Amino acid sequence: MIGMRYGKYLCKKYNKPFIPIHHMEAHTLTARMHDSTVTFPFLVLLISGGHCLLAVAEKVDRFLLLGESLDDAPGEAFDKMARRMKLKNLPDYSTLSGGQAFELAAQKADNPLQYSFTTPLLQYKNCNFSFAGLKNQLQRQLIREEREKDILADGVIPGIHNLCAGFQLAITRHLCHRLQRGMDYVERKNMIQSDNRILVVSGGVACNNFIAEGLRMVCDELGYRMVRPPPKLCTDNGVMIAWNGVEKWRENIDIHTNFDHIDIEKTAPLGTSIIEDVERERISCRWVKLKKLTLPQSSWSEIGNVNIARKADYS
Ligand SMILES: *[C@@H]1O[C@H](CO)[C@@H](O)[C@H](O)[C@H]1NC(C)=O
Repeated sequence: MIGMRYGKYLCKKYNKPFIPIHHMEAHTLTARMHDSTVTFPFLVLLISGGHCLLAVAEKVDRFLLLGESLDDAPGEAFDKMARRMKLKNLPDYSTLSGGQAFELAAQKADNPLQYSFTTPLLQYKNCNFSFAGLKNQLQRQLIREEREKDILADGVIPGIHNLCAGFQLAITRHLCHRLQRGMDYVERKNMIQSDNRILVVSGGVACNNFIAEGLRMVCDELGYRMVRPPPKLCTDNGVMIAWNGVEKWRENIDIHTNFDHIDIEKTAPLGTSIIEDVERERISCRWVKLKKLTLPQSSWSEIGNVNIARKADYS
């Protein structure tokens, strides 16, 4: 509210129009600033500490929502579980965010399959997401391990790396499943031309290279090009809001010279929900194999199909 008031004050002072911006639309459109070949319509997966949603971006101000999280967001799950596992008590992770700690710890796993997780919502043929169940699964395994190994209050279990890897893998697999069904749906409905198969991945969790690798495997298999803006544009930032203003200005959308009545909205859904139509299609998928992701990351470079160069470009 403070930001909005200040924005209105600036607009009045300098005689400029006021352009309201939707936070998640801004996350989506930032990809077009980063890469001008991202043209409408395209698919977007927004994964962050507050959101998880899959949508078709049709125009600057037109979005179709294919699926969203029924409970937590993935970044939130990482943060809460990193705290629960007391990762901060280990020097390597003491300064990192929950998500960063998970990614780093998982890199050191020698067996990502040591702790098994059930993929959420497998029986639902839609594109909704859920992370609460995975959190519970992790907590149960953690409690059992802490009891068996007599871990004291601020101690960390010996299998911490494998547990982090298992959880991260489960989240990745879930995201890949929902994404793949979404791709099948837009294909069936002819919503994205075959020469414009683009997936934008944005939001704080898009910085996770392991998750991105999984999503890229789905994209490669289904003929999509994945566009992931650089980390400083994926996490919350002011530039993306400004860019969305530029996009709206160019299209003459939402340009207000009388704006006293405009207010921030507590809940503002992204675009129009077509979640029910996705469900009606009851699309079954033959899941893209994510075998590589189940192997220790230390062995990835020997496997061959890991494109190290692409990763370097990204950083
Ligand atoms: C999917 O998500 C939407 C919106 O959150 C909700 O209305 C719907 O009930 C969900 N579908 C299922 C099967 O949970």
